[in-house]
Amino acid sequence: MTDIWNQVDDYVTRTVVHPDEALRQAVATTEEAGMPAIAVSAPQGKLLQLLAGMVGARRILEIGTLGGYSTIWLARALPPEGKLISLEVSERHAQVARANLEEAGVADRVEVRVGPALETLPTLAGEQFDLVFIDADKVNIPQYFDWSVRLSRPGTAIVVDNVVRNGGLVEGPATDPNVSGVRALHEQLARRSDVAATTIQTVGSKGYDGFTLAIVGG
Ligand code: SAH
Ligand code: DHB
Ligand code: MG
Repeated sequence: MTDIWNQVDDYVTRTVVHPDEALRQAVATTEEAGMPAIAVSAPQGKLLQLLAGMVGARRILEIGTLGGYSTIWLARALPPEGKLISLEVSERHAQVARANLEEAGVADRVEVRVGPALETLPTLAGEQFDLVFIDADKVNIPQYFDWSVRLSRPGTAIVVDNVVRNGGLVEGPATDPNVSGVRALHEQLARRSDVAATTIQTVGSKGYDGFTLAIVGG
């Protein structure tokens, strides 16, 4: 199956997504730096950009920068005076990302803050974001989601990557801390009446996974 998933992602990327040279370069420099190839796919990056446009995002928060690939897609949805803050634990990843953001012409709108997100999120207290993309370590997803709601206004969109994990969301032992994180997110969403959410399963060049989309209520 995975071959046809790749072929469809390639076809969709060619026909409707058309990433530019800077985005393709960002993937290349991330790989050359020996960083993992776990950025969102081009169709997924375009989805993030469209979602940011749909909510008219002026302020975006990202948790998990890697080489700044998803960051570039998101930042390009911002108006000139818009702002994106991306949180990254690795100084090296942040350096590669900053160079890629510069190449893509969005460095003026993006700030990469280095540190464990659970330590940098509290420094944002009092700020408000229109869209949050959660894509760092999976074990802390429940805490990242709590923080995201705290940094939201009514109508803020929250996207959480990698929540299906090849079906691990519902199948098998929760000994994998990544799986326990995405299960805990869904248990949290089941209890929350102030957030409307859905989870969409996806296949593609990143295998079988999925994302949760949530809108914060009033
Ligand atoms: N959003 C990126 C991919 C992010 S990969 C894209 O799609 O292009 C996950 C990133 O989260 C890695 O760079 C990793 O270093 C970072 N990360 C892992 N644990 C973290 C933590 N506790 N705080 C902040 N970032 C973390
Ligand atoms: C992994 C992390 C991601 O954010 C992703 O999209 C795919 C895989 C990982 O840590 O394996
Ligand atoms: Mg991811």
